[in-house]
Amino acid sequence: MEWWKDAIIYQIYPRSFQDSNGDGIGDIPGIISRLDHLQELGVGAIWLSPVYPSPNDDNGYDISDYKNINPEYGALEDMDRLILEAKRRGIRILMDLVINHTSTQHEWFEKSRRRIVPYTDYYYWAPPRPDGSLPNNWTGFFGENCWQWDDVRGEYYLHLFARTQADLNYHCPQVLDEVKDILRFWLDRGVAGFRCDVINLLWKDSLADGEKRLALTGLEHYLTLEGTHGILRQLREVLDGYRAFTVGETVFVTPDMARDLCAPERRELDLLFSFEHMETDQYFIKWLKRDFRPKPFFEALIKWQQELPWNAIYLENHDQPRSIPRFGCDGWWRESGKLLATLLLTLRGTPFIYQGQEIGMVDFDFDGVDQLNDVESRNVNRILSAYHVPEGLRWRIIARTSRDNARTPMQWDDGPNAGFTTADRAWLGVNRSYHFVNLADQESDPDSIWSWYKDLAKLRREREALRRGDFLWLEATHRVFVYRRRLGAESVTVALNFSGRPARVGSRGTLLRSNYRRDGFDGRLQPWEAVILEDRPL
Ligand code: GLC
Repeated sequence: MEWWKDAIIYQIYPRSFQDSNGDGIGDIPGIISRLDHLQELGVGAIWLSPVYPSPNDDNGYDISDYKNINPEYGALEDMDRLILEAKRRGIRILMDLVINHTSTQHEWFEKSRRRIVPYTDYYYWAPPRPDGSLPNNWTGFFGENCWQWDDVRGEYYLHLFARTQADLNYHCPQVLDEVKDILRFWLDRGVAGFRCDVINLLWKDSLADGEKRLALTGLEHYLTLEGTHGILRQLREVLDGYRAFTVGETVFVTPDMARDLCAPERRELDLLFSFEHMETDQYFIKWLKRDFRPKPFFEALIKWQQELPWNAIYLENHDQPRSIPRFGCDGWWRESGKLLATLLLTLRGTPFIYQGQEIGMVDFDFDGVDQLNDVESRNVNRILSAYHVPEGLRWRIIARTSRDNARTPMQWDDGPNAGFTTADRAWLGVNRSYHFVNLADQESDPDSIWSWYKDLAKLRREREALRRGDFLWLEATHRVFVYRRRLGAESVTVALNFSGRPARVGSRGTLLRSNYRRDGFDGRLQPWEAVILEDRPL
């Protein structure tokens, strides 16, 4: 049925969406109370970042029980009610499936470290090398090495992410059986599918030393290997029984890998998140971001539009700084926010809106490292300190890249704590911008970013070319991006000016939408203007 080709998917970071019980932490009843907001936006599905029990070293991406709900967020009954209430509004629920690793507080880990059968090999355990050094030279995703000594077992365990996120060993067949069981558990409760966390790293072919790299030494031993394809096909057998949908988070994925992971006949994933367009403003490694240059960004988008038949389109999520300060311009907040919305909702693929993006939320306004929660940022800070990088420079690096930029609480209104919580303090600082950037204000303003998102979502529903049409790029310069979406006789052109200066484009047509007030279009774009044109028949 491929409902996901016509849907807009909305990502909720539950900790920061809506608190209902005054403890400063978002929860499931809070999400339920805001479903009308999502329905009004025209959302077809919600991807819920993890809501399972977790010690929260990585805010839920370190799961200690896959078949329950974190009491901070509610109980299983709340989840059932969420699924039901969402369904009533025509919204499906997607869970986050984090199966590359578990929390070290998971029962499996507790048993594995004590060598209790059958859990003994659920994780990658290894002794030190004869010279006493770590089992191999791999380095991890959060900037540290990826082996941690365990006194109980008397061996090291592998963790590609935080120390408390131990990698599961898929060479042990029981692990896959456990995962299949988890899938059935949630599918039986009515979820429509899963967003699969770092899913192309599951299979490690060996623990041999990796080729030395600046970051992620060892990558060739686990990046999108045949073993992972096999695991995905096995999981698909379960998923197909429920006609469930999956979108994979696939790091360092190339178009060739992506085609293999998503080709419908291979029965692996339905859709995946690629990263290339999100890396065009990065220098060497992700913590060194330099200024955004539109041209490479357009080129990466074009490449993926052309190389894959269908894409997950996104500009934000809980791991990335906010898109307006990054790809747009704070000084042209409203215009560039709408321009980015236009890009998101008119490329070919399934758009993902991250909570707060629909009202143009911006990066945090924290003053220093002690206000951060993100485990990655704290690690980076520790490592940079060890290299004697001065505090000012450390903060500059971290402030631009920290994942907490996107994790501050949702800004609902201009009341205390932006309407997110009635507690004195939210679990993470509320961005003071909420006085100007909040949903309540924008709902009553037909010119707001929120109204623009709603309007574009409606336009997408009306124009099949914007959903299913093919993609043809017309112009991609150092600041202008123009492309056409066409389906049969229906043809629509989108022209975007990614700069604070007027620009000219070659396209003409009947004006459908502009983020400026204008009657017609003569090829001249205002600063950060986005226009959508109906192409005149030849
Ligand atoms: C993914 C998640 C991220 C998490 C990591 C480890 O990249 O999106 O938030 O830290 O996986 O689970």
